[in-house]
Amino acid sequence: MKMAIIGYGGMGNNHKKYIIQRLNDSDYPEKLEIAGIYDISEERNEFARSLGLHTFSSADEIWNDKDIKLVLIATPNDLHLPYVVKATQMGKNVIVEKPASLSSEQTEEMYAAAKKAGVVFSPHQNRRWDDDYLTVKNIVDSGTIGRVYRIESRVMGSNGIPGAWRKIERQGGGMMLDWGVHLIDQALLMFDGPVKSVYCDYSFEAGEEVDDGFDLEIKFESGVIYRIVVDTNTFIELPRWQVYGTDGTATVNDWRRDTVTGKIIRVKQRHDDKLEGVNAGNGFTKTMAARREETQETLPLEVVRGDKNAFYRNFMDAMLSGVPTTVQKSQVMRVFKVMENARLSAMTNKVIEETI
Ligand SMILES: NC(=O)c1ccc[n+]([C@@H]2O[C@H](COP(=O)([O-])OP(=O)(O)OC[C@H]3O[C@@H](n4cnc5c(N)ncnc54)[C@H](O)[C@@H]3O)[C@@H](O)[C@H]2O)c1
Repeated sequence: MKMAIIGYGGMGNNHKKYIIQRLNDSDYPEKLEIAGIYDISEERNEFARSLGLHTFSSADEIWNDKDIKLVLIATPNDLHLPYVVKATQMGKNVIVEKPASLSSEQTEEMYAAAKKAGVVFSPHQNRRWDDDYLTVKNIVDSGTIGRVYRIESRVMGSNGIPGAWRKIERQGGGMMLDWGVHLIDQALLMFDGPVKSVYCDYSFEAGEEVDDGFDLEIKFESGVIYRIVVDTNTFIELPRWQVYGTDGTATVNDWRRDTVTGKIIRVKQRHDDKLEGVNAGNGFTKTMAARREETQETLPLEVVRGDKNAFYRNFMDAMLSGVPTTVQKSQVMRVFKVMENARLSAMTNKVIEETI
């Protein structure tokens, strides 16, 4: 199966280096061959050639090559829409990097174009297969710490907004579109049932025209509160995940390494009748005193490994045998709706109550 990559920056190259390679190294019967790449930057073209890749001199060359069945779009976000629409019109199956586009309206347009052309189209929502996310989802689903009523999902860096286009609004910059799209996708897959309301604050500490972080609270109709924090100026980070259940608490500290680390503490005896108060700060407290070890147990974190081939394998299956794409349109549209209500909330300083 021949494919072309449009936009050969960090992520375009990442698809070649790891993601496609993982499929080709697996026992999947069909392999993906990169017919070439198209990028407007001569530097990126030279880099691609140094890796032995063919470089197209225009996107038209890709459209007119009948052997190319699949096109991957990994350009800045504002260019996703025109490339996706054109690619579908030329009969190509299309993977577009996240966020699919800049709005739900544009994303609807993409799906309509793909439907009209009868091709397979999917945004690359790869973080559904992150080990840390699946590990937390397993804690929620298994009931290990009882009913989970609150989750905090955070990514915290200290390197600011990377690159040039991510700082520009019309190019689809900002951390909500960059990271929000991943973390909201995870949230909506973690819990069944509708979202009741969202409240969000954007951060503009870097002085750019786009958000350099945000703090979003999603309230589900079930009562679950799901908080997402993205920060690009934190030098001492908080855990990636904090999960609050009726019978315990789980924490996942690290997610950037091969092994996810964290712990689970579950209550054994609800009321510690021998609880002693402590002097804390300029006062005394029993409420906040540490409980005795005998009243609780520490469980090991059972790390769930995500299938790193799942996205491409499903996309290939969708092209070859017509199975539905794992990343479904309804899911993608819901994430956009939450992002748009989060933005509205941040702009108006109001809770946005809408069933999503
Ligand atoms: N799924 C993920 O985990 C993940 C991670 C990083 C980035 N991304 C997404 O990938 C996309 C690209 O991000 P990036 O970090 O690689 O950015 P980048 O700036 O590193 O790369 C973008 C590339 O597009 C090229 N380009 C610009 N205009 C073009 C045009 N008109 N035609 C062809 N090429 C053009 C640039 O020269 C550059 O090489 C974004 O949509 C981003 O959100 C996804």
